[in-house]
Amino acid sequence: MTHTRFSNLLRRVFMPLLFIAWGSHAAAAAASTPQPGEAAPAAEQIEIGRYLTLAANCAGCHTVANGERFAGRTPMPTPFGTLYGPNITPSPQHGIGNWTADDFWNAMHHGKSPDGTPFYPAFPYPQYTRMTRADTDAIHAYLMSQPASDTPSRPHELRFPYSQRWLLTLWRAMYFEPGTLAPDPAHDALWNRGRYLVEGAGHCAACHTPRNRWAANDLRRGFQGAGMMDSPWYATALTGDAHGLGNWPAEDIVELLRTGSSPHSTAAGPMAAVVSDSTQHLSDHDLGAVATYLKSLPPGPGPGARAQPSEAVMSAGRRLYEQHCVACHRAAGEGAPPAWPPLARNTSVLAPSPNNVVQMILKGGYAPATESNPRPHGMPPFHALSDSDIAALATYVRNSWGNAAGAVSPHQVTPLR
Ligand code: HEC
Ligand code: HEC
Ligand code: HEC
Repeated sequence: MTHTRFSNLLRRVFMPLLFIAWGSHAAAAAASTPQPGEAAPAAEQIEIGRYLTLAANCAGCHTVANGERFAGRTPMPTPFGTLYGPNITPSPQHGIGNWTADDFWNAMHHGKSPDGTPFYPAFPYPQYTRMTRADTDAIHAYLMSQPASDTPSRPHELRFPYSQRWLLTLWRAMYFEPGTLAPDPAHDALWNRGRYLVEGAGHCAACHTPRNRWAANDLRRGFQGAGMMDSPWYATALTGDAHGLGNWPAEDIVELLRTGSSPHSTAAGPMAAVVSDSTQHLSDHDLGAVATYLKSLPPGPGPGARAQPSEAVMSAGRRLYEQHCVACHRAAGEGAPPAWPPLARNTSVLAPSPNNVVQMILKGGYAPATESNPRPHGMPPFHALSDSDIAALATYVRNSWGNAAGAVSPHQVTPLR
C-alpha cells in the first residue's frame, strides 16, 4: 500500500518536476547559440528553423513526392550521374540523429560530413555557407523536432571518376570558399536581408547563375540565366535588363514569388516548385527584401547573335497560334494575367534557350498551387503537333508583339519530347 502510494506520489509529483527540470535544461541547451545573451527559447528557435527550412527548400531535395518528409531518396540527375538526397530526419541509424549541432554546422558551412568527407555541391552548401551559425542551429533544432524515419538513404549512382569523393578536395580548393555573409554597410537593412535570403538560404544562384564545365557557379556571371543541370529547363536571367527583371517593378517580383503569377509571366517547371514549396511561405517583409535586392542587380550582357526567323516559318507559326493558342494567350500575346500569362515580353519566352517555350508547348503544365491561388489554371499539352509545327510556333511567339529571340529549328524540339 505504502509502496503504491509512494510510487503514485513519485509519478504525480516528482516525475513532472523532473521533466520540467529536464525540459528547461534541454531548452537551454538547444537554444544555446554562439552569441550568449542572444539565445532564443527552444520553441522560438524551432519556429525560426521551420521558416528557414522553407526559405531554403530543404524538403525539395530531401523528400520524394508523397513520401515521408525529409526521409530522402530524392533523385537528382546530373551530367555526372544521379545523386539522391539523403535522409535528414532524427533517425540515429538512417538519418542525422547522432549529429551534434557542430556536425550540422560543418555540413552547412564547410560542406563536410562528421568524418571529414567532403560533400558534392549538388547539396547547395556553396550558398548555405553564407548563413549564420544561429540560423543553421535553428534549422538543426527544427529538423531534430520532426519525426524520425528509418528509410535508409539511397546510394548515389555516379560514373567514374565522379564517384571518387577525393576529387572534391580539388574542386573545393578551386571553387569553394566558406564564409558567412557580412552585412554591407553601403546598403540598408532591407537590401541586406534580401541579399542574405537570395545568396544564402534561397540558393537562387544554384539555378540562375551559369556553371562552368566542373559545375561550379561562375560568379562573374551572377544571375545572368542558366540551363539547369538536371533538366532541359532554362532558369531565366534575374539581372536588371529586358531579358531579366529590368522591366519588372519590385511589387511584381513579390507577386510572382507569393502567388506563382505576375503581369509578366507565370512560374513554370522547376520555378513552380520553388514557389509552391518555398517562396510562397516567406513573409511580406522578406519577399519585399528579396525583390529589393534583385532590383539592384546590374544588367547582364544580353543575348548574343541569334538565328533570324524566315517569313514562311513566321506565317506558319501565326496560323498555328491562331488555331491553338489565341483563346488563352490572346491576339497580341497579352494574355489575361493572372489566369493566362502574357507571351509578349515574357522573360521565359525571350530566353536565349528556347527550351522553356518548347517544353510548355509539348507538355503543357500548371502554374504553382499556392495559398493565394490554390487552383491554378493549366495549359494543355500539344505533343500531337509535329516537330516542325512546334518549332514554327515557338519561333512565332519569340518574334511577335515586340519579342525578338532566336528562331527555333525542329532539331531543337526532337530531344525534348
Ligand atoms: C538542391 C538540392 C538540395 C537542397 C535544396 C538541400 N540539399 Fe541537403 N543534400 C543534397 C544532396 C544531393 C546531398 C548528398 C551530398 C553528398 O552525398 O555528397 C545532401 C546532403 C545533406 C546532408 C548530409 C546528410 C548525410 O547523411 O551525410 C545534410 C545534413 C543536408 N543535406 C541537409 C540539408 C538541409 C538542412 C537543407 C536545407 C537548408 C538541404 N540539405 C537542402 C541536396 C540538397
Ligand atoms: C487553355 C488555355 C491555354 C492554351 C490553349 C494555351 N496556353 Fe499556354 N499557358 C496557359 C497557362 C495557364 C500557362 C501557365 C502554366 C504554367 O505556368 O505552367 C501557360 C503558359 C505558357 C507559356 C509559358 C509562359 C511563362 O510565363 O512561363 C508559354 C510559352 C505558352 N503557354 C505558350 C503557348 C502556346 C504556344 C500555345 C498554343 C500552342 C498555348 N500556350 C496554348 C494556358 C494556355
Ligand atoms: C531549382 C531551380 C531554381 C531555383 C532554386 C530558383 N529558380 Fe527561379 N526560375 C527557375 C526556372 C527554370 C525559371 C524559368 C521558368 C519559368 O518561367 O518559371 C525561373 C524563373 C524565375 C523568375 C522569372 C519569372 C518566371 O517564373 O517566369 C523569377 C523572378 C525567379 N525565377 C526568381 C527566383 C528567386 C528569387 C529564387 C531564389 C529564392 C529562385 N528563382 C530560385 C529555376 C529556379
